[in-house]
Amino acid sequence: AAAEKGGFPSFMDKEIHDQPQAVADTLLGRLDIDGKLTLDEMRIDETVLKTIDKIIVIACGTAAYAGQVAKYAIEHWCRVPVEVELAHEFRYRDPVVTEKTLVVAISQSGETMDTTMAVRHARQQGAKVIAICNTFGSTIPRESDAALYTHAGPEIAVASTKAFLSQVVACYLLGLYLAQLRGNKFRDEITTILEELQTIPEKVQSVLDNDKQQVLDLARRNQDVGSVLFLGRHVGYPVAMEGALKLKELAYIHAEGFAAGELKHGPIALIDDGQLVIIVVPSKRGRDSLHAKVISNIQEVRARGANTVVIAEEGDEEVQEFASEVIYVPQTTTLMAPLLTTVPLQIFAMELATAKGLDVDQPRNLAKSVTVE
Ligand code: G6P
Repeated sequence: AAAEKGGFPSFMDKEIHDQPQAVADTLLGRLDIDGKLTLDEMRIDETVLKTIDKIIVIACGTAAYAGQVAKYAIEHWCRVPVEVELAHEFRYRDPVVTEKTLVVAISQSGETMDTTMAVRHARQQGAKVIAICNTFGSTIPRESDAALYTHAGPEIAVASTKAFLSQVVACYLLGLYLAQLRGNKFRDEITTILEELQTIPEKVQSVLDNDKQQVLDLARRNQDVGSVLFLGRHVGYPVAMEGALKLKELAYIHAEGFAAGELKHGPIALIDDGQLVIIVVPSKRGRDSLHAKVISNIQEVRARGANTVVIAEEGDEEVQEFASEVIYVPQTTTLMAPLLTTVPLQIFAMELATAKGLDVDQPRNLAKSVTVE
């Protein structure tokens, strides 16, 4: 087993470090030399894909957060409405699904029963289904019209890390492919986005190289916290929810991810002296107004005694004034940021659980793949 962990103390640690490769491998072979996107596995008629009027992403757990990140990108690039729904809710609410609906089922294992049942339901209603999956030949891709595989390699730790990053990347490839097909974006714009995507593996590597020790220290200092709140906005919102999920799963700490804009509508009542709040700050270059709004959220919780840990992009000095601590990640575009900001949150949950003496690979009560409804 030690050899399988590649010298790391746990599979989770190894898998977090596999992420640059997982992202690179998921991109591999899908971009040709002049930057055009080719998805050979897209076995759905192009004319059908051109007439799609709605996309519904179905997934569970971490995969559903990957879908929520992708919603922002796909809607922006394709101008097609995207709904993200937990697979177990989808089937039971009489969803509006037609032949013009494209369902994207995201699943690392490809065996999650809730997601499988939702795929069957969608196909019965006449929708086309694309599976985004990490396990070749598993049930969900077999039962779908097409499969786009994430090439993250086997994920052994129960809580998902590298599969998440790869799922976001695969969804982005799908979104750009649809944009290319539907002619919503100029070719050079898609090329620029793809170029940025190709820089992500080395940027993830630099997060691992530069932030790990700082996050480890932070986790050790906070191993006795009773609850942690995560705030984010835009794509940072699903990142906040994923950060909270990792902490629940690995460290058994009560954690919630909130949309930062929602703070004043309720969650701010939770802020008390010493409450740890982790805030994912959007890039100032990308969305100036959002950056300012999230900074004021940091101020608001700080004024009420919160311990504010901020994830921000390199060069963002404005956040320092209100932050107890800043964890910097490399600069990238707004939509690519989740591929970087998620990583310190994964490390935080893993290191905090480790500091508490917990088994990060096999958390209590959880299964890697839930094959019952
Ligand atoms: C389980 C795992 C989670 C995972 C979810 C969905 O609950 O513990 O880590 O995100 O299933 O799994 P899937 O294989 O469908 O992505």
